[in-house]
Amino acid sequence: MDKFKIIDFKDLKLNPFEKIGNEWMLITAGDEQKQNAMTASWGALGVMWGKNVTFVGIRPQRYTKEFVDKNNKFSLCFFDKSHKKTLSYFGSVSGRNEDKIKTSGLNVVFNDGVPMFEEASLVLVCKKLYKQEIKPECFIDPTLDSKWYANHDYHDLYISEIEKILVK
Ligand SMILES: Cc1cc2nc3c(=O)[nH]c(=O)nc-3n(C[C@H](O)[C@H](O)[C@H](O)COP(=O)(O)O)c2cc1C
Repeated sequence: MDKFKIIDFKDLKLNPFEKIGNEWMLITAGDEQKQNAMTASWGALGVMWGKNVTFVGIRPQRYTKEFVDKNNKFSLCFFDKSHKKTLSYFGSVSGRNEDKIKTSGLNVVFNDGVPMFEEASLVLVCKKLYKQEIKPECFIDPTLDSKWYANHDYHDLYISEIEKILVK
């Protein structure tokens, strides 16, 4: 944990489209007893209700969702390119079926009880503010509904305050 330092929002220099959409992140949640993580490549960083926030969407069948729902905080961990294979693994296997953290060899550390990975290069510690299920009747562009929700497994959208930005 002491490998990380807190930086100010004004010092965060990243391209969110590249960082989230192409490099991906691990949504990591739980407590000191049990944690789980899943890969996400959809999400946003921005400002809402006067706070610096993240948006993430989690489908109902994800095991990680149980951990996000049970805890007030979670982390978004970003890695350098050498970990891309590991992120593919976290995005293709469920923690219900395998101990992904153990298999991956990544090490969990805690920041005020919030799980994150020692190997991450950037971590956003997030406090949940708002959660809402994506609703089919709310699509202005209905092609998105048929394209992404053939199984009606609508994401829950979480808007969370970024409490801390940690970098190596
Ligand atoms: C590149 C990539 C991006 C993903 N993005 C998301 C996402 O934004 N939201 C989501 O619910 N699932 C997403 N997934 C799927 C989950 O990561 C995947 O289903 C994972 O196995 C869930 O693990 P869990 O059941 O242990 O939570 C993504 C998968 C990959 C490979």
